[in-house]
Amino acid sequence: MYSRFIIIKKYLHYWFASSNGNGHGIHSPFVYDFIKQVLKNNKKQPAYDSIENIRHNLLNDSSIIEVEDFGAGSTLIKNKKRRVSQIAASSLKSKKYAQLLGRIVQYYKPASLIELGTSFGITTSYLASANSNATITTFEGASAIAAVAEKNFKALAIDNVQLITGDFSIKLPAFLENQQKIDFAFIDGNHRKAPTIQYFDMLLKSSHESSMMIFDDIHWSEEMESAWNDIKNHPAVTLTINLFFIGLVFFKKDFKVKQHFTIRF
Ligand SMILES: C[S@@+](CC[C@H](N)C(=O)[O-])C[C@H]1O[C@@H](n2cnc3c(N)ncnc32)[C@H](O)[C@@H]1O
Repeated sequence: MYSRFIIIKKYLHYWFASSNGNGHGIHSPFVYDFIKQVLKNNKKQPAYDSIENIRHNLLNDSSIIEVEDFGAGSTLIKNKKRRVSQIAASSLKSKKYAQLLGRIVQYYKPASLIELGTSFGITTSYLASANSNATITTFEGASAIAAVAEKNFKALAIDNVQLITGDFSIKLPAFLENQQKIDFAFIDGNHRKAPTIQYFDMLLKSSHESSMMIFDDIHWSEEMESAWNDIKNHPAVTLTINLFFIGLVFFKKDFKVKQHFTIRF
């Protein structure tokens, strides 16, 4: 993982080098539409308050749970007994990004969604409530964390989520084997290069032209930046959007020339 200093430096570079997020000078109609309809859409949705209320409770929950350590993203807290509040403070996607992911689902209406890395189910809840007709299959390795997520889905009356507990590298291929194509995948766990590329390859086999994949923390470490570059250069990828903390990947064939956008968010 890069030091805080390096991440700030990289963020400043992103901020000044990126398109300013108002759509000016963006020649891709698809990206222009994404900026106007999704990125800049600040309309509050009915589910927001109840989900943020759950986050608030988690951030104040001092109970201790026994957690298996999965993936490079867990290096912040090393011991196995962890406070719920500590995990909530370090693992969950912020409100800004979780709501953006919800808006993406609301706008593009993917029907079959995958999330790698449920944690306490905050982002999952945004994805699920953005489209009640969609099915979200979310994967979490740590069973005590998964149990908290299940409790949260119940409290929010979310019934379009299936949570699979276990290591991604075992559970994901087993799931995909019996699955039709997937429309959307959010990869938010195990931030190392080799597994990230492995998940990309697995998901790609189950994707189609209109699928999208979203990778978390693409500038988090040298390994993640390298994984992001490999994904961008993959022949099946036709368009990417870098928002610094997440990277969006598209495969549409009517984008005749491969294009990479970096947009301020
Ligand atoms: C960053 S958190 C996910 C946060 C969640 N998506 C959100 O925004 O609320 C990543 C989660 O992935 C899980 N994880 C990491 N590597 C894993 C692996 N190889 N198999 C299963 N779970 C894993 C961790 O236990 C952790 O709870």
